[in-house]
Amino acid sequence: MVNKLKNINSYFKPILKSLSAQALKMNVRIYLVGGVVRDLMLGEKIFDLDIVVEASAIDFAHKFADTHKKEFKKHHTFGTATVFFDNHHIDFVTARSETYPSFGVLPKVKPATLKEDLLRRDFTLNAMAISLNKSDYGKLIDYYNGESDLKNGFIRILHDKSFLDDPTRILRAIRFEQRFSFKLEKHTLVLAKEAIAKNALGLVNPHRLREELILLLKEKTPGKYVKRLNELKMLQLMGINVKFAKNDFRIFVEIERAIEFYKNNFKSHRLLEEWLVYLMAILYRIKRSDTAKFLDVFGFRKGEKIRVLSLYDNMDKLKELNNRVLPHVIYKTLNPLSFESIIFFYAYYRQKNIRKNIEKFLDKLINIRLRLKGEDLRKLGFKPPTLYGKIFEKLLYAKIDKGFKTLEQETSEACIIFENYQSKH
Ligand code: CTP
Repeated sequence: MVNKLKNINSYFKPILKSLSAQALKMNVRIYLVGGVVRDLMLGEKIFDLDIVVEASAIDFAHKFADTHKKEFKKHHTFGTATVFFDNHHIDFVTARSETYPSFGVLPKVKPATLKEDLLRRDFTLNAMAISLNKSDYGKLIDYYNGESDLKNGFIRILHDKSFLDDPTRILRAIRFEQRFSFKLEKHTLVLAKEAIAKNALGLVNPHRLREELILLLKEKTPGKYVKRLNELKMLQLMGINVKFAKNDFRIFVEIERAIEFYKNNFKSHRLLEEWLVYLMAILYRIKRSDTAKFLDVFGFRKGEKIRVLSLYDNMDKLKELNNRVLPHVIYKTLNPLSFESIIFFYAYYRQKNIRKNIEKFLDKLINIRLRLKGEDLRKLGFKPPTLYGKIFEKLLYAKIDKGFKTLEQETSEACIIFENYQSKH
């Protein structure tokens, strides 16, 4: 028997041994399952563990967490539990079978054997297990020929109703297909297309589609994933009535580069929600009202919606940055925007001047702050205080353009601005 866990990294080795010892003690059978088995067989890095327990997963996980003094969280509704190990987590699930009361809704579950548990899963490559039990520790359990599909590069569903039961699997199929440069197996592709034609995606809770779409956009090089979604007309079925010509996918590569540039050069700025920039590259191509509707229906968060919609309001303003403009104009244009929108525009507009101006903003202008405070204006006798907002705005633009270094420079400029204001009113 080949021990598939022989080469597992030294961090996980003792954890798996300890799980195995506890299973022996409790006289229950446990297995490593799902994506982690797939990734081990592909030689990919692994992060988290999924364990199927042929008994109560919650009891098993609870005891394991106690032994290792780790944080433990249970989810009664699903009969699952998670134990947190440093930066990794171990998910425990009771072996279960699933039946779908109707297409697209969440399944009804009941305890079952490992074989049935594996049958409820999405694709053969995700339906393998490795035994953690003493008698056959490390043995691959492959009822559905996952290993052969892995070798031949096929994404294959386990039964014909799979996509109808859970249409989010259509997005998952594309995610795995593109991630591993595999192919959807012929019959699987036919069934995916059939499910799409029957508008199966329309039957799923849109929030679940949102989650899957985000996962897809979080993959490396999301452009090729979007291309595939487009080929299969899936964006359109999600209400994104977009037309991509061949060259239109170039934006995704530009975004990859822009994100790299941002990450390498502006380490002190906050981390980007990279997937959102890619989503922008899909959505800006459709009407503002359709984008707003899509974001609402799919349950995107308010902040995400604001950032995406800001593209429409700023597309033309950004073009002005292709001219020679004063630094404060750059500031005024870019400061109200999120980093995601700015990076989108950096990728979208390939004109040298626009890019240079954006770099200037991110590098220098964004950090410029006034030394002068409201209290200082009050001491100078400026009235009424309702004017201060306007004065500060003008003062900041003057500081940006003229490069003031001292408080004195700011004070004398503030006086000029105030006098100008008084003479006009
Ligand atoms: N699964 C499924 N159907 C879904 C979601 C998940 O059958 N709609 C099963 C698969 O067996 C999958 C496992 O649950 O392997 C764990 O799901 P998840 O963590 O989402 O996927 P991974 O396969 O681990 O993929 P990733 O590498 O992207 O985390």
